[in-house]
Amino acid sequence: MNVLILGSGGREHAFAWKLAQSKQLENLYIAPGNAGTAQCGTNVAISATDFEAVKNLVWEKNIELVLVGPEDPLVKGIHDYFLQDEVLKDIPVIGPRKDGAQLEGSKDFSKQFMFRHGVPTARYKSFTKDNIDEGAAFIDSLQPPYVLKADGLAAGKGVLIIDDAAEAKAELKNMILNSKFGSAGNTVVIEEFLKGIELSVFVLTDGKSYKILPAAKDYKRIGVGDTGLNTGGMGAVSPVPFADEAFIKKVEEKIVKPTINGLVQEGIDYRGFIFIGLMNCEGEPSVIEYNCRMGDPETEVVIPRIESDLLDLLQGVATQTLHEKHISITSDIATTVVLVSGGYPEEYQKNKVVTGITNTNDSHVFHSGTAIQGEHIVTNGGRVFAITSFGKTISEAVGKSFAIAESISYEGKYYRNDIGNDLINWG
Ligand code: AMP
Ligand code: GLY
Repeated sequence: MNVLILGSGGREHAFAWKLAQSKQLENLYIAPGNAGTAQCGTNVAISATDFEAVKNLVWEKNIELVLVGPEDPLVKGIHDYFLQDEVLKDIPVIGPRKDGAQLEGSKDFSKQFMFRHGVPTARYKSFTKDNIDEGAAFIDSLQPPYVLKADGLAAGKGVLIIDDAAEAKAELKNMILNSKFGSAGNTVVIEEFLKGIELSVFVLTDGKSYKILPAAKDYKRIGVGDTGLNTGGMGAVSPVPFADEAFIKKVEEKIVKPTINGLVQEGIDYRGFIFIGLMNCEGEPSVIEYNCRMGDPETEVVIPRIESDLLDLLQGVATQTLHEKHISITSDIATTVVLVSGGYPEEYQKNKVVTGITNTNDSHVFHSGTAIQGEHIVTNGGRVFAITSFGKTISEAVGKSFAIAESISYEGKYYRNDIGNDLINWG
């Protein structure tokens, strides 16, 4: 089978690495890909949101399945584009159509969806310029801190958590009237702050049945001890010690089943991954957000723990036979440590030559933002690598990732040396 992966990050490298192990794979293409994906298949220099270029590539290379990594092409309707096109309509796309992608593309939609289907989540109210005057009273009805979210996609920056009520009211105006987050903030969701510990659960669905994939914990902030600016994610651990079997069972009953049933009831034919961001509030799960794709760097710990053939599972999604497939997960622990460019998540430099990349039996260096320049691999993004390792304990796994992190060199290299620390002595 010929497969195309859309995207260019560590998530896509992890997908490419896993699909390249499938016996059913003939040719793998990644658009646009990076220096890492080039080791698993053929990179094609087109943007994942240039649908016409994607169409030509699919036609030219006889692609038989398309796996969409990031949310952008999904929210923009790449799956719908395929279904409406005479040439493309029978080629399966893994990733929801525009309607399903709204679970991530609109926080207001996803909150309404959760309330319609009884999925536990924080109490909220949505505001636009038409009811902005009611915002102050709603803020006063909540306990601090206040959580304000731009409705639309805001490159991961659209959430504000504010302690002071007056400041929260000012920011509400700033978002709606002064377009602080552009049109993404025309509607703002204000919600209750959830106290607890965060984790993510991933689901693969063919629109009828589903498989729950391993859970993961992400480390979002740039600084050691979870301090400083928010990033795309500085590391991840899977499984999550505070999400034991009983907790995951609760997630399945209270969140996964109502979500899948809700999609069916609303006539949303969802085929792809659902990333459920959760708070574990004293043992009770509550949804923070849905994403319509896998997480990055969570994919780099979740996918390597799947022992089954990923292409076979994706074919199950495409043909709605996922219920016939078995998914096997290793009990080993996977950790990933993200290496970033100096300055990230603010301005950073690119094109720094990288040396010292080593893979071992227990560790794999996934490329997040790299490019090939002549003979060299160079940095080409804020997040540069995600080094995934296996172990029987978190310390063992993460120790292997740190050792490789040390051996890699490029100017401005930085990583958090405390990934997993909070979990090592859990329970
Ligand atoms: P999001 O962009 O929706 O992932 O939100 C960014 C981060 O804000 C989340 O990962 C949480 O850490 C935090 N967050 C969002 N909503 C809430 C909430 N209702 N209560 C507590 N923390 C939240
Ligand atoms: N690591 C968080 C995300 O992929 O959104």
